[in-house]
Amino acid sequence: MKKIAAALLAVSCFSSSVVAHEAGEFFFRVGSATVRPNESSNNVLGMGSFNVDNNTQPGFTFTYMATDNIGVELLAATPFKHKVGLGPTGDLATVHHLPPTLMAQWYFGDAGSTFRPYLGVGVNYTMFFDNKFNDTGKESGLSDLSLKNSWGVAGQAGVDYLIDKNWLINASVWYMDIDTEVKFKAGGARQSISTQLDPWVFMFSAGYRF
Ligand code: NI
Repeated sequence: MKKIAAALLAVSCFSSSVVAHEAGEFFFRVGSATVRPNESSNNVLGMGSFNVDNNTQPGFTFTYMATDNIGVELLAATPFKHKVGLGPTGDLATVHHLPPTLMAQWYFGDAGSTFRPYLGVGVNYTMFFDNKFNDTGKESGLSDLSLKNSWGVAGQAGVDYLIDKNWLINASVWYMDIDTEVKFKAGGARQSISTQLDPWVFMFSAGYRF
């Protein structure tokens, strides 16, 4: 009996030492997500291209491991809020968006590795909403702001450090191709400005696996 108990103990110790991502597992990560646009646009009313500032929000990822190496991940966040302006005028408007992103991922290493670096490729959908000119914009005769929603390709690199069977810490970065049309009226005349946001998104998070 003692020998069997020792063998069972050895087996359970061995299996609990398998701390890394494995097939069939779900995990989620919660942390900070920062969107840093690499913005460019057509010339706006002869005043150059749009400037868009950075924004940080709580970010969440949900991942399913299809095999020990292949994951499928959904990125979600609370709405990002950016100020948009022009060099000569300063900030003119505030826009909000949600950029859910679905990735297919390859995790390097195996189910026994403590570090699991990964690469991913996928698709981003960015929904713009609650877009408003501020007082400077309104005083400049601007109104009726809207931004076209965007579908685009996303790429990703990240690393998980597996602390124990349940907990991990993570750092990851995405590049998202987000292109939109910024539509508004200037002194009553309709404008449509082709605009690229193409941000880097940085996330630092803690994860829980089950
Ligand atoms: Ni683009």
